[in-house]
Amino acid sequence: MSLADERARLDAALTEARTAIPNASSTAALTDLERHFAGKRSPASAANEAIKALPGADRPAAGQAVKAYRDAITDLVTQRRVTLAADEGAAAATRERLDLTIGGHARPRGHLHLVTQIRRELEDIFIGLGYRVAEGPEVEDDWHNFEALNIPPAHPARSMQDTLYVRLGTDEQVMLRTHTSPVQIRTMETQPPPIYVVAPGRTYRNETLDARHSPVFHQMEGFAVDRGITMADLFGTIEAFVRHLFDDETIRTRFRSDYFPYTEPSAELAVSCVFCHGRGCRVCSQTGWIELGGCGMVDPNVFTAVGIDPEAWQGFAFGFGLERLAMIRYGIDEIRTFVDNDIRFLEQY
Ligand code: DAH
Repeated sequence: MSLADERARLDAALTEARTAIPNASSTAALTDLERHFAGKRSPASAANEAIKALPGADRPAAGQAVKAYRDAITDLVTQRRVTLAADEGAAAATRERLDLTIGGHARPRGHLHLVTQIRRELEDIFIGLGYRVAEGPEVEDDWHNFEALNIPPAHPARSMQDTLYVRLGTDEQVMLRTHTSPVQIRTMETQPPPIYVVAPGRTYRNETLDARHSPVFHQMEGFAVDRGITMADLFGTIEAFVRHLFDDETIRTRFRSDYFPYTEPSAELAVSCVFCHGRGCRVCSQTGWIELGGCGMVDPNVFTAVGIDPEAWQGFAFGFGLERLAMIRYGIDEIRTFVDNDIRFLEQY
């Protein structure tokens, strides 16, 4: 074999390597190729063997040719190793990627209970009308819950069936308030007129929980004390708030004569059914009207009880149930669902 043959063989092998090595499909395949082109039984080692048979003068050149070949193979392998490592690293990164956009395990955020939502909405409406929000205790005394409200001792509302008494002090003198009306008394006892106040809150009655009754429910009381207040002010105020709440200008209000010891005259307040617009449906029991609560002009005896001169001041008052308003607005037919704490019900509102 001549030096020229030697070079031709190495060149041929290198040409082959220039296609094969950059296309090695993995680091394992690359190692195999490196062995094939530069290992023990490669063209390089064959050439080294062949050098021994060359004339002495050709040997250095032949040796340099082998070295150049080896260097070229090493360069090719090194380059491919770098690109393969990058590709394989990227593939592993894709497989094991930490995707920060997926979201974590944060607790799902809840929202306000339906009754709280309605309460706040009502507060906003009345604050817009110039009212202030007041609160009173849920454990009341006889004076505020009954006596000062002109409810005489023999009144049926005092019977044990309606009132949940608390065993504290004299019998039947401390109770869970049966309505929010005592806040009228507490407010007038502490503040001179003019007064424009709404008082939302929890109320209690001795009732068994069923579809329509609950021993715990919510009311909102509203009352105004000023000079020259008339029933027209009461009607106008209630109409304004009802239209606001149901967001419906066509809703009509109806006031029918009623009786409450703390108002004179007293009226029952009803609104035209928001579902059938007065035609009659299941929600309004085919009457076209839905009762919301009671109202009237503050009884002079109530003013006298808190030391306000009934000749100088007039006032109106009203009270209604918040669960009832929510039931009407959303067509809910069981008051029980408000306290069942079933998330499937609550999350709908
Ligand atoms: N307190 C009454 C009830 O619980 C509702 C009520 C009626 C409140 C007439 C008032 C009113 O302020 O004037 O059923």
